[in-house]
Amino acid sequence: MRKGQEDSNKSSPVLDCPILTHGEGVVRFSSLQDTHPWISTGFRTFLEDSSMQRFFKSILPGMALLWMLSPISCKQEKVQVLPATKEAFRESGKKVTDAFMKALGQRLKAAIAEGGPSYAIEVCSKEAPKIAESFSTQKFRIHRIGTRVRNIHTGTPTLDERELLQKLSPKSPDIVEPVNGKLVYLRAIYLSNALCLKCHGDPKSIDPKTRKVLARLYPEDKATGYKLNDLRGAFVVRER
Ligand code: HEC
Repeated sequence: MRKGQEDSNKSSPVLDCPILTHGEGVVRFSSLQDTHPWISTGFRTFLEDSSMQRFFKSILPGMALLWMLSPISCKQEKVQVLPATKEAFRESGKKVTDAFMKALGQRLKAAIAEGGPSYAIEVCSKEAPKIAESFSTQKFRIHRIGTRVRNIHTGTPTLDERELLQKLSPKSPDIVEPVNGKLVYLRAIYLSNALCLKCHGDPKSIDPKTRKVLARLYPEDKATGYKLNDLRGAFVVRER
């Protein structure tokens, strides 16, 4: 029996791992004959062979690295969600919602200029969900939710989104939180432009033609009666 093997047997007579034990940062090999007499003599000789031991030692760092990169260790990281990851998601969320907001605003203004608010509603109802879809990727989905909702299919917040929506304020206009291990970013939408009230303001002040189109396309519409600077809803970016 070799010297190193005797040492390791003394320091840990009972072994959990049939092949390797750790002693003061050094990986040692114990005698398998003592600990696992049921292993056949041929296989024992094979495992105890010094070139085999060198081989196992040489592949250890690689195995450790593989484990760190494996889905098991990644899964743990996702659940913990590091602050840096949250901040990076917030930054990406800001950028993508900036671009989404710009695209929607441009389309809305162009449609109003072309045929007035009632025409713009027809355009928005067809194009707003498509524009949202065009900004979504395989990694995240982007959409808008309402404090009171017009498009019940796309604008209704889920329970967790409703909770986060309630935390938004002018002083804290966006938020990132992990929900079921996935990040969710919300950015408040305020009715800071009087133009918005043409379709979301007090029903009495909304042009009758516009009201008629709204009633036809959105029979369950609850998104009127807002005042300037009210919280209208939020942009939502959800990690897939
Ligand atoms: C021309 C009418 C019109 C104007 C002006 C208008 N909206 Fe809307 N808004 C709509 C329509 C129509 C929808 C539903 C779109 C859909 O089907 O996806 C909608 C949906 C929304 C939603 C999504 C939530 C929901 O209830 O479905 C938000 C948020 C929103 N509007 C905010 C605004 C803001 C902010 C402004 C001002 C910059 C504005 N809107 C101006 C017609 C309008």
